[in-house]
Amino acid sequence: MAQNTVDTVPSHAPVTLLGLGTMGTALARAWLAAGHPVTVWNRTPARSAALAVDGATVAGTAAEAVAANTLVVVCLLDDTSVGDVLAGTDLTGRDVVNLTTSTPAQARARAEWVRERGARYLDGGIMAVPPMVGIPQAGGYVFYSGSRELFERHGETLSVPVGTTYVGENAGFAALHDIALLSAMYGMLAGAAHAFALIRKENIDPAGLAPLLADWLTAMAPSVHQTAEHLRTGDYTTGVVSTLAMQVAGTPTFLATADEQGVNPELLTPYFDLMRRRLAEGSPEEDLTGVIDLLLR
Ligand SMILES: NC(=O)c1ccc[n+]([C@@H]2O[C@H](COP(=O)([O-])OP(=O)(O)OC[C@H]3O[C@@H](n4cnc5c(N)ncnc54)[C@H](OP(=O)(O)O)[C@@H]3O)[C@@H](O)[C@H]2O)c1
Repeated sequence: MAQNTVDTVPSHAPVTLLGLGTMGTALARAWLAAGHPVTVWNRTPARSAALAVDGATVAGTAAEAVAANTLVVVCLLDDTSVGDVLAGTDLTGRDVVNLTTSTPAQARARAEWVRERGARYLDGGIMAVPPMVGIPQAGGYVFYSGSRELFERHGETLSVPVGTTYVGENAGFAALHDIALLSAMYGMLAGAAHAFALIRKENIDPAGLAPLLADWLTAMAPSVHQTAEHLRTGDYTTGVVSTLAMQVAGTPTFLATADEQGVNPELLTPYFDLMRRRLAEGSPEEDLTGVIDLLLR
């Protein structure tokens, strides 16, 4: 019979949570609702009161909270606040799971900093907003990276608030995946902002445009699979139906329409500039994949 080499913790394992902002509070409520004993600490004590009513143990200091349980989840504003709060605690033997948004380099440095203090480290990037926490059908999840052993040991507990996706031993990879997805989201939102601006001065109901936009963006989203395949193979022409040459030829129409509608094209022009540069340097039969190479410094 295969041996289970992972030392998993029992169901309903106790959790310490540092940070009771909007997200930390949602996480604490999810663990409490699932029957986990939860010890909480927050810089502003008032935010702990409601959770105490729900059954959380409120620690007087971060050090007391860390001392209470092996699993220490951190959900603070930024990496600086994580350093400030953990500096006054004894991390020896602790399993630190840091769900605070950071850069990949900050996450790697924090992993090293925590290991130097005798603890294990797992970094997380939360792909959810607080109302999605504790609601499995909402589809939220956390990217995790760092100690796989720690991820597996606490997998059951970590999957209580939202889903879990492990992306590698490199502690910076969770943050990298998090920021990559959110960056793509901002590009999408920028495009939607331009679309709404185009109709703003007309007698067109934005509520009528919204479902059309959502459906169109959903229909276009799978194109990322072809982009990935092009990057993997290095061949940017296979399966291309909308060539770079055709798309660059269309850009004056987009800019003239913006002008006609009295809309500043500043959200579109940086991308159009890259498309034109790539056309000047590369094959007109490519799609837009080559723009990615122009972004690399
Ligand atoms: N909310 C979201 O939609 C969302 C989504 C995904 C990821 N996240 C990430 O989750 C983390 C927490 O977000 P949040 O929405 O809970 O933020 P928040 O509501 O602004 O709460 C921030 C928390 O950090 C604490 N804090 C800030 N500076 C501190 C310091 N120097 N020392 C000690 N504690 C400090 C605050 O304590 P006080 O109460 O004392 O101010 C509070 O507990 C962030 O990294 C955020 O990027 C949030």
